[in-house]
Amino acid sequence: MQFDLSINTTSLLANFKHKYWQNEMLHKNDETCKAAVKILTDFENADDVEEFVRELDALILIGSHSNIITFYGWTLQEKIPALITEMAETDLLQYVRKLRGLEFPIKEILSILWQITLALEHIASLLMVHRDVACRNILLTESGIAKLADFGLCCHCDESFTYRATLQKRLPLKWLSIEALVDRIFSEKSDVWSFGVLCFEAFSDGSVPYPALTNLEMLEALQNGKRLEKPIKASSEVYELMLKCWKESPEERPTFKDLSKDLKIILESKTQNYGYLTLDFSKNTDS
Ligand SMILES: Nc1ncnc2c1ncn2[C@@H]1O[C@H](COP(=O)(O)OP(=O)(O)OP(=O)(O)O)[C@@H](O)[C@H]1O
Ligand SMILES: [Mg+2]
Repeated sequence: MQFDLSINTTSLLANFKHKYWQNEMLHKNDETCKAAVKILTDFENADDVEEFVRELDALILIGSHSNIITFYGWTLQEKIPALITEMAETDLLQYVRKLRGLEFPIKEILSILWQITLALEHIASLLMVHRDVACRNILLTESGIAKLADFGLCCHCDESFTYRATLQKRLPLKWLSIEALVDRIFSEKSDVWSFGVLCFEAFSDGSVPYPALTNLEMLEALQNGKRLEKPIKASSEVYELMLKCWKESPEERPTFKDLSKDLKIILESKTQNYGYLTLDFSKNTDS
């Protein structure tokens, strides 16, 4: 796909050392729309280059899904590779952090979580693992739809539905399951564990998990059967669901299909009118 982007890459590179997201206008066949552009600025950093290529590969493979960020294409802008996606309003971490002190929108949060399980069910059906499921990587659009994003760590499973990482680099340790931390084994079930941590963030106004523990202390605590505590805003049924995601044995954890069913039931018990199209995330994001 050919895109005409009005980016001044020289000024982007002068101002930002890392990737930068820019609200750009995308022009195609005389039509314009807002787009987000992620550029690779640090060609020297092998991790950055690998993440960029992984993300591009994954976005091409995944195709279109209403709860996954829409990929428009990629381009070389003055020799700088750039990924172009739809532009969202905010991300889930910023959204829940801005809710501090306000009435907790339980239905919206449950709807967002349910939408994310649909996205991850799709990823799992393609035998892929996201490996970075966290509130910072969930985008919320102006029209109120939750979208899974940031596929920089996404990878393919083998025939046993697992992926064994060669090196433990730049992985989000506090979101990882025990088998991912210890044996570097990733699967749908390690994404399910991370989804449980995402739920913890969402119900605790975006708190950082295990704030007082080092990575090693956290692993010891998990191996001793300890888990994140119930956030005040989570009901006991929601906390039960989180605890299921953190079962030590991956086989005992639910699949994303199971989680989406459970969340739908919890959501339906809150109201009959839970349609997510009525959500308006712009209300809390204008500061
Ligand atoms: N399409 C988009 N629309 C709006 N904001 C976006 C978009 N993509 C990313 N962002 C914002 O940029 C942040 C970082 O994006 P992303 O997670 O893709 O990059 P990253 O390489 O993981 O960087 P980081 O390490 O900061 O998470 C997101 O948390 C979100 O706030
Ligand atoms: Mg990210």
